[in-house]
Amino acid sequence: MAGQFITFEGGEGAGKTTQAKMLADALEAVGVETILTREPGGTFGAESIRKLVLEGTDDRWSGMTELLLMYAARLDHVEKLIKPALERGAWVISDRFSDSSLAYQGYARDLGADTVRQVHDVVMGGFAPDLTLVFDMDVFLSLKRVEQRASEQDESLSRFDKAGQAFHRTIREAFLDIARRDPERVKIVDADGSKPAVHARILGKLTEKYPEFAGRLSGA
Ligand code: TYD
Repeated sequence: MAGQFITFEGGEGAGKTTQAKMLADALEAVGVETILTREPGGTFGAESIRKLVLEGTDDRWSGMTELLLMYAARLDHVEKLIKPALERGAWVISDRFSDSSLAYQGYARDLGADTVRQVHDVVMGGFAPDLTLVFDMDVFLSLKRVEQRASEQDESLSRFDKAGQAFHRTIREAFLDIARRDPERVKIVDADGSKPAVHARILGKLTEKYPEFAGRLSGA
């Protein structure tokens, strides 16, 4: 089978990063070369842009500037890492991709989803993930997890983590709407549960799309 591009999306604190790693390990265990990456970031250039967009005060960038920075990072990531990997038959799992721009810069920052879709078409053409998993959970619970993680790891909160509950509720609704509009590609995963329970839900979505993995992936 050709390389497949899978993206993990959702609000903060839903456990995407841990689950992306667990899925990459499960695929590797059945012999699929898997590249695990993230956005904004994933290449040297895109990681430099990541610092610009995640650090500083909430009003550091206008909505359009922020969107263009995200797409500058994304284009570098797609051209230098994602497409070459897919072309040689590897699978790529990205912790966030273009649906984050739709949700954060489009739905939540007043640019509007249509503007973000237009920028996407200009920069990316028809390039899109084969499968997107949206991690959905209660906003209050997920923000508690973010604060707990920041204090345990002595990390500072990013510009987006600090944006408040109303913003994060908008983000949740945005991802649910994105999934409603594109149900073939975008699947919702209930992210409230233990790590193994959520991992099993993800393997379930994966084997729905790729039935050849049924019974082969651990936990499936
Ligand atoms: P990160 O610390 O990686 O958050 P998380 O663990 O929740 O993924 O920070 C990424 C932040 O960048 C997150 O708040 C969402 C935001 N973001 C956008 O606003 N637009 C985008 O296109 C992308 C990829 C991320």
